[in-house]
Amino acid sequence: MTVLDMRDVRKVYRSGDADIVALDHATLQVDHGEIVALLGPSGSGKTTLLSIAGGLLTPTEGTVTVNGIDITGHDAKELTKFRRENIGFVFQAVNLVPFLNAEENLLVVDELGGGKGGKTAKGRARELLDELGLGARTRNLPAQLSGGERQRVAIGRALFNNPKLVLFDEPTSALDTKIGAQVMELIRNEMKARDTAAIIVTHDRRMTQYADRTVEIVDGRLGAEAPVAPQA
Ligand SMILES: Nc1ncnc2c1ncn2[C@@H]1O[C@H](COP(=O)(O)OP(=O)(O)O)[C@@H](O)[C@H]1O
Ligand SMILES: [Mg+2]
Repeated sequence: MTVLDMRDVRKVYRSGDADIVALDHATLQVDHGEIVALLGPSGSGKTTLLSIAGGLLTPTEGTVTVNGIDITGHDAKELTKFRRENIGFVFQAVNLVPFLNAEENLLVVDELGGGKGGKTAKGRARELLDELGLGARTRNLPAQLSGGERQRVAIGRALFNNPKLVLFDEPTSALDTKIGAQVMELIRNEMKARDTAAIIVTHDRRMTQYADRTVEIVDGRLGAEAPVAPQA
C-alpha cells in the first residue's frame, strides 16, 4: 500500500522580482513501512519536498496524497488537523520546548490533539521514552540532555500519535559521527518495529545505508535511484 503519493509537484517561491523554482515535476511514492533516503546538496529542494509531503507547505502545482487522503485542496485548518493525525516530524535543529521536561515534551502532542495528558497519555510517553533508552531521563529538561538524547526525545514526540509516515529533515547533521550513526540505527529500528514509513532527508551519502531506497535530488528534480552505499 502507498502511504505517500506525490505527483508532478512543482513549487515556485516568489522572492522579490525573481521566481525560484524549488521543485519541478517531483513524483515520489513511498510504500507502507518503507524507509526512503532523499539525498541532495544544500539548496536542492529537500526541505521543500518534505514540507509539501507533510502538509506544512502547499505546492504550486501537482497533487499530494497521504494515506489515501488527497491533501492538495486542504485549507490551513484542515492541514493542521491532517498533520496532527497522520505525520511525525523530526527536524535538524531539535526544537523541543525548553521549559518542559522530556515526558512533557511528548505530552504536548496529546494536548495539541485535545487530550488532557491523562494517565494513558503519560503511560504512553514513559513507555516510548523507555523504548528509546531514555527511561531515566523523563524528568530532565532539554538543556540537561545530550544532543543525541534530545534528538531521541524528538523521535519519541514524532512517534507519539502512531503516524504512518515520519519525515526526518537532516536528523543527525547537528550530531557527531558516532552519535549520528546511533541515532540513525535507532530511527531504522523504530520505523521497522512499527511498520512505519519514513523519508530521511540528508546531504550525507553515508546515511543512505539506513534506508531501503535512495532518491537523489538536484536543483529541484528527482533523479534516478542511487545504489545504497556499502556498510561502513
Ligand atoms: N521561503 C522561501 N522563499 C524563497 N526561496 C526559498 C524559500 N525556501 C527555500 N527557498 C529556496 O528554494 C531552494 C530549495 O530550498 P530548500 O528546499 O530549503 O533546499 P534544501 O533543503 O535542499 O537545502 C533554494 O534555492 C532556497 O534558497
Ligand atoms: Mg533543508
